[in-house]
Amino acid sequence: MKFLITAGPTREPIDPVRYVSNRSSGKMGCAIAQAALDARHEVVLISGPVDVDLPRGARLVNANTADEMFDAVHANARDCDVCVMCAAVTDYKPEKPAAQKLKKGTEALLLKLVPTRDILRSLGSMQDRQFLLVGFAAETENIEKNALTKLRGKNCDIIVANDANLAMDSDENEVTILFRDGETQKISRAAKKIVARQLIKIFANAREKCLTKKT
Ligand code: C5P
Repeated sequence: MKFLITAGPTREPIDPVRYVSNRSSGKMGCAIAQAALDARHEVVLISGPVDVDLPRGARLVNANTADEMFDAVHANARDCDVCVMCAAVTDYKPEKPAAQKLKKGTEALLLKLVPTRDILRSLGSMQDRQFLLVGFAAETENIEKNALTKLRGKNCDIIVANDANLAMDSDENEVTILFRDGETQKISRAAKKIVARQLIKIFANAREKCLTKKT
């Protein structure tokens, strides 16, 4: 199967030297990409700026901003069997990044942020989507309830819910997988590499099931 996987954060420029971003390390997305390669799948990895070793054997596309990641995902999604949106795409970006470095002053500085485009939602709303669509939900409260709202709102097939406090920039994770039909499955706390291996099996099975239903 062919997997498209997004990983890491995005950075939204304030000026040429400053940006808005988040604490995502890219470890979960890269572990998923490595697990897919180990299971002999083809992988396109679209990665934000990360400091981890990227899996060898994947086709790598770098994306710095949410807009770059949006374009890279849409350029590659159609011929994939499974799209796993694991990146922590920055939700807001400065409306007008300054062309030159902002000068320090003594007054408060107001930064107007506008929403970025939601990549997962845009894939979920594609009319003729053939691929299995997987989203992630990093939450700090009401984890499963919020994840279910995302599953429905973004029209995914699967949402992987995790606790942002445990998952972000950590080597371990613990996840609950929510399926479209209401089924849930838990993977208990383990190294991200181990969790990723189980996730790949689950995604590949779910994709097989979709295909069987369609024929
Ligand atoms: O709504 P929230 O950002 O928490 O949803 C998380 C899921 O949505 C993740 O799968 C993430 O990759 C995806 N997402 C996206 N584009 C955005 C924001 C989030 O693809 N702009």
